[in-house]
Amino acid sequence: MHFFIMHTILITGGAGFIGSHLTRLFVTKYPHYKIVNLDALTYAGNLANLKDIESASNYHFIKGDITDTELLQQLFTQHRFTAVLHCAAESHVDRSITDPLAFVRTNVVGTSSLLLAAREFWKADFTDKLFYHISTDEVYGSLGETGYFYETTPYDPRSPYSASKASSDHFVRAFYHTYGLPVKISNCSNNYGPFHFPEKLIPLSINNIIHNKPLPIYGKGENIRDWLYVEDHARAIDVIFHNGKIGETYNIGGHNEWKNIDLIKELCKQMDSKLNRAPGTSEKLISFVKDRAGHDMRYAIDASKLKTELGWEPSLQFEEGLSKTIDWYLNNKEWLNNVVSGNYAKYYEDQYVKR
Ligand code: NAD
Ligand code: TYD
Repeated sequence: MHFFIMHTILITGGAGFIGSHLTRLFVTKYPHYKIVNLDALTYAGNLANLKDIESASNYHFIKGDITDTELLQQLFTQHRFTAVLHCAAESHVDRSITDPLAFVRTNVVGTSSLLLAAREFWKADFTDKLFYHISTDEVYGSLGETGYFYETTPYDPRSPYSASKASSDHFVRAFYHTYGLPVKISNCSNNYGPFHFPEKLIPLSINNIIHNKPLPIYGKGENIRDWLYVEDHARAIDVIFHNGKIGETYNIGGHNEWKNIDLIKELCKQMDSKLNRAPGTSEKLISFVKDRAGHDMRYAIDASKLKTELGWEPSLQFEEGLSKTIDWYLNNKEWLNNVVSGNYAKYYEDQYVKR
C-alpha cells in the first residue's frame, strides 16, 4: 500500500462512532482518495456525525445494508473500489444478549457478503487491493488479574457480540488463506470520545450526570477495560492501512486499564468541576445494578507489535482524553438530545428500568 495510490475506498459503517472519525481522517488527510461511505443508518448510525465533511468533493454517502449482495455488486462495479475499510457492525454487548441474531446477520453474514463482493471484483488482479477489517479485543475472551491479549492469543469469545466478531475475523482470514484476498485485521480495546452513542458506559454516564439520573454500574464495578481515545484508534488504522503487512493482525490498545468504578469516580470528579457542582455531588448518583450475563472480567491489550513495527503509540493520557470528551458532550447537547430522543427511551426502559 503506497501513499501515491489513488484509492477509491469503501468505508462501511462510516456514520457510526469509530467509522465517523475514520471517515473524517481519510477525507481530510487524503484529498486525492475518493471515499464512499456505505451505512444502513441503524439506531447507531447518524449523519450528524459527519456534518463537517458532508460536502467534501472526495466524499460520497450511500444508505444501504452490507448484507445486500446486489447493492454491493452494483457499488463495486460503479465505483471500482481499490480498498474496503470495514467498520459496520452491531457493536453493543447488552443488545447482543437480547437479540443475538441481529449480530449474526450484520457481523457474520454482512462481513462474508463484503468479502465475497471484494473477491469477485478483484480476483483478476489483487495487486494494491486491500480488505481491512476492524475488530475488537473481545474476541480473545476474558482475562484474570494478570496477563495481556497478544495477536497470538487463542480466540475465546464469550458474548454473542464477541462470538459474531470472532466469526467475522475467521472469515476474513479464511478468504486470505483460501483465495489469496489481501486482508488486514486490527483488534482494538474499548474506545471513547465524541459521537459515542450513549448506550455505552462513558457517554451513558455523562448523559445521566447532566440530567442527575442514577449511574448504573453492573455488579460491583470491578470489571476492567483498557480505554483508548477514538482519534488514536483512527490514527492506528491509518498507519496499518498504509504500512501494515498483508495477512497480518495488529492489536491496538491504550495501555490504560481502569476498573469501571474507578473510571466512573474520575468521571464524576471531572463533571462536578465542569458543572460547578460541589465535589462529591455526582458520585452520589452511583447505583449498583444486576450484573451483565457472562460479564467479561478484564480486557488488556499488548500493542507492542504495532509500536515496534509501525511506530504507533497512543497520544493522549486518559484524564486528558476524558476531559476533552466531557467538554465535547457539554458543548454538543443538541447532538446528545437528538440521539436520546425516539427509540433510546424504550431501550433505556427495557435495559435499566424493567430488569
Ligand atoms: P457503532 O455501533 O457506533 O456504529 C456501527 C455503524 O454500522 C452504524 O453507523 C450503523 O448504522 C452501521 N451498520 C450497522 N449494521 C449495518 C448494516 N447491516 N449495514 C450497513 N451499516 C450497518 O459501532 P462502533 O463503536 O463505531 O464500532 C465500529 C467497529 O469497531 C465495529 O466493527 C466494532 O466491532 C469495532 N470496535 C469497536 C470498539 C468500541 O469500543 N466501540 C472497540 C474495538 C472495535
Ligand atoms: P460497554 O461500554 O458496554 O463496553 P464493553 O462491554 O464492550 O466493554 O461497557 C464497558 C464496561 O462497563 C463493561 O464492563 C460493562 C460496564 N457497564 C456498566 O457497568 N454499566 C452500564 O450501564 C454499561 C453500559 C456498561
